[in-house]
Amino acid sequence: MFKVVFVMVLEANYSLCTTVPLQLSSRAYSVVPTPRDSGEKDMLDRMMRVDHAGEYGANRIYAGQMAVLGRSRTGPLIQQMWDQEKKHLQKFNEILAENRVRPTALLPLWNIAGFVLGASTALLGKEGAMACTVAVEESISEHYNSQIRALMEKDPERYTELLQVIKEFRDEEMEHHDTGLEHDAETVLTYI
Ligand SMILES: [Fe+2]
Ligand SMILES: [Fe+2]
Repeated sequence: MFKVVFVMVLEANYSLCTTVPLQLSSRAYSVVPTPRDSGEKDMLDRMMRVDHAGEYGANRIYAGQMAVLGRSRTGPLIQQMWDQEKKHLQKFNEILAENRVRPTALLPLWNIAGFVLGASTALLGKEGAMACTVAVEESISEHYNSQIRALMEKDPERYTELLQVIKEFRDEEMEHHDTGLEHDAETVLTYI
């Protein structure tokens, strides 16, 4: 169910409209190349916008979980994952600003929906929070994997820096997913 909600908001972002110690390159841009034409610009803008929205939503989910479980024994674990999400969001904030891409108009929805999703699942206890984490992190990892495939098929050389960012984030999302599983998410996932 959590995954369905998360995917729905990601899809909605598509319809409306990637720490991280990054290597500095000699190129004129830091992460995203200057688009060659309107088609490439649309593709890159859409990717940046939806990735930013996903990281924003993830931050709100962890904020909601911390509001409920911050003082519990699980608090430090959630905080650790949230800190990584903050770095992801910061990176995409920089990428959007550098490329003059507007964030999605759905950020206010993400703000509330993400927090409510995080807090309400955390009210089920540590297992509920971890089940939410597993579902959300799985969907965002799949999302990043599909972007990696698309960019690799188009021109891996041209998108080297962007691919590096997305792969690093994808790896960290998978770690969050595995952390959830290691902390009893499955006891709740069985019932979802
Ligand atoms: Fe993230
Ligand atoms: Fe994550």
